[in-house]
Amino acid sequence: VPVSGPEPPAPAAIVPRLPVPTGLLAELTYRCPLRCAYCSNPVELSAYRDELSTMDWRRVLDEARGLGVLQAHFSGGEPLLRPDLAELVGHAHVLGMYTNLVTSGVPLDAARLDALVAAGLDHLQLSIQDADAGPADAFAGIRAHDRKRASAALVRASGLAFTVNAVLHAGNIDRLEAIAELGVAWGADRLELAHTQYYGWGWRNRAALMPSAAQVERARAAAQTVQARHGHQIEIVYVAADYHADRPKPCMYGWGSRQLVVAPNGDVLPCLAAGQLPDLGVVNARAASLAEIWYESPAFNRFRGTAWMPDPCRACDLRHVDFGGCRCQAYQLTGDPAATDPACGLSAHHGLMAGAVTAAAAARPPAIPRRPR
Ligand code: SF4
Ligand code: FES
Repeated sequence: VPVSGPEPPAPAAIVPRLPVPTGLLAELTYRCPLRCAYCSNPVELSAYRDELSTMDWRRVLDEARGLGVLQAHFSGGEPLLRPDLAELVGHAHVLGMYTNLVTSGVPLDAARLDALVAAGLDHLQLSIQDADAGPADAFAGIRAHDRKRASAALVRASGLAFTVNAVLHAGNIDRLEAIAELGVAWGADRLELAHTQYYGWGWRNRAALMPSAAQVERARAAAQTVQARHGHQIEIVYVAADYHADRPKPCMYGWGSRQLVVAPNGDVLPCLAAGQLPDLGVVNARAASLAEIWYESPAFNRFRGTAWMPDPCRACDLRHVDFGGCRCQAYQLTGDPAATDPACGLSAHHGLMAGAVTAAAAARPPAIPRRPR
């Protein structure tokens, strides 16, 4: 039966909401006592020596919380080289953020850890290079392994939530099981076993670091063994090898979507390797607020959402799952940061990944190099 009456109101226009960031990666310094060949920090460090002051970082944390950020990850380089680390952790804690310290553990001692715990540190992630001191110290370039063991004991006794992470590469991947057992023995609540991401020094040293397909296959099986043995007690995260995959990683869970990175000099970046991308329009935290940078800067808007995507991503069902992969990897391999990540089997450039593995094996140096100091 037709009903007469006033016209119903027009539906309100749907205004698309820009994403709200939840995580801040605060790269306090690129200085570090270790010399790992897989370091993802920029190769050219001169632009990053003018580090933000304590007051700058306090303002960055204020602005990050104002934007909605809930987690502050203090990273580097080695963030313990900043004497103001506990003050900054304390500031983030008072703002209500979950605080995480990503460290080599080498400069840690009981007094430093006590100060961090008192300031409100919630979680500590300790990196290890290998299962035994010999190869671990050879890779790190200093005698670090026993100091990490002592740091792990302090962290365990402190009651902090504790992750042990190891980066896997051709030189240690066949010891994945032993590395995982060491993390368990050191009392980790969470174990992260991650294949090398090839940025910065890692990209430069990929001939030495890239594992073979057979090594990756063995690692996958070893990770399953570790999961079956310890997965009921602790969380185990295995980060797959991009160069041996058929689909890309969801890098940063989408560009300008959830996380922002502040480099030691204050550059605000959508990911830790974005500084290398040409003409990105990076803005420094000394020049504008984080809110202006997050919402309005060319750098954060360049690859936000899906409108920028080329074929085959633009029509692909997985574009909201992997966001077209990694812009930095696409740039490094194809020269075009807007290309589909070659890690995807649907990319016209997918053959570059297998080619890089073959080229790395052919050019493998006799020893793994060290990052210069
Ligand atoms: Fe992801 Fe693009 Fe590949 Fe689809 S075509 S799986 S969106 S990278
Ligand atoms: Fe930059 Fe993946 S590391 S987008």
